[in-house]
Amino acid sequence: MDNTWVEISESALLHNLRGIKSLLSPATELMFVVKANGYGHGLRETASIAEKYPDIVHDYGVHLPEDGLFLRNSGIHKNIYILGYANATHIPLLVENDLIPVITNLELIPLFEKEARRQKKKVKITLKCETGTNRQGILFDDIPRYIQSLSNCASLELEGLSTHFANIEDTIDHSYAERQLMLFQKFIAAFKKAGFPLPKNHMACSAATLLFPETHFEMVRAGISSYGYWSSKETSLSFSGHPEKTLTLRPVLTWKTRIGQIKEVPPDSYIGYGCTFKTEYPTRLAILPVGYFDGYDRGISNTGYVLIHGKRAPLRGRVCMNMIIVDITHIPGCSLNDEVMLIGRSGNESISADTLASWTGTINYEILCRINPGIPRYMIS
Ligand SMILES: Cc1ncc(COP(=O)(O)O)c(C=O)c1O
Repeated sequence: MDNTWVEISESALLHNLRGIKSLLSPATELMFVVKANGYGHGLRETASIAEKYPDIVHDYGVHLPEDGLFLRNSGIHKNIYILGYANATHIPLLVENDLIPVITNLELIPLFEKEARRQKKKVKITLKCETGTNRQGILFDDIPRYIQSLSNCASLELEGLSTHFANIEDTIDHSYAERQLMLFQKFIAAFKKAGFPLPKNHMACSAATLLFPETHFEMVRAGISSYGYWSSKETSLSFSGHPEKTLTLRPVLTWKTRIGQIKEVPPDSYIGYGCTFKTEYPTRLAILPVGYFDGYDRGISNTGYVLIHGKRAPLRGRVCMNMIIVDITHIPGCSLNDEVMLIGRSGNESISADTLASWTGTINYEILCRINPGIPRYMIS
């Protein structure tokens, strides 16, 4: 019996992926972004579900070369893109396992070419373009240097260009995103003019995928929406301005723990580290075996609640490394080992990753992907 565990709903994941796919033209591929341990849902679990639906998911996106290798070794034959930084030492592994690098450094190109020749392979690569995020990406003014380098690389195939939006989910004013799109189109035009056919370009994250078909190009890269969450309130609001489109998202992940001890304490008792909470009435407490080590943010101390028997049990005192303490005075019938909902639905109440994010001033992405990978994930229908 686990103390704390996560359940992953196959039907919810399928529902979301299918809904996203329905917004794409038939020729546009859907990359399922499974970086950060499948946004906390489990890399193995999420990919193994998606693999059952090859008509929906065509490609995977991970951050780490190691994660790409893990997927390949799990028997996945589809395209796997390494969205993060692959350094020179990763090159033999990427070439050997047909993992597609997203390159942002000129000096890596001849190294890929050398390794491709050594392994007698034609190697696909993507170049990432700087269009306004000022994170990864090659500068527009450097295009001639990349074109020159690639023209000496017969063993490399520049499959396409990619870029990433800076603030498409942060606002309902999408003028900055439009400027990024225009600059990306200029990058594509420059490479095509130099003779690179670029069969597969991509820039759309979830928000762009849901809102702007003109950003879809040949593939979209959907992360958070696949897991059943809107990128932001602004994205959801902007989407509602398109009555011609329909999409419902169903959260895929449920996070549960159990009651590990029940005790009664009198009024004026301090609770937890730092004595930050003092009881005002005779209080029944439940001690739960989950804490910030597990990804339950310490910022929720004295702020949030969990669900027990469909009722809210407020946190008392600080979130500890491996424990939290909640008030169950008003919840009758609680027993040792009873299930407790940290993220999910219980009776008429629910707690989502958005709820937790609002308590700590962060975003649903961070809440989900910080759930400790060591916590067991179980796939349910
Ligand atoms: C390069 C890249 N593409 C796509 C995504 C997916 O974004 P989202 O989860 O908003 O769909 C991410 C996520 O951070 C990313 O870094």
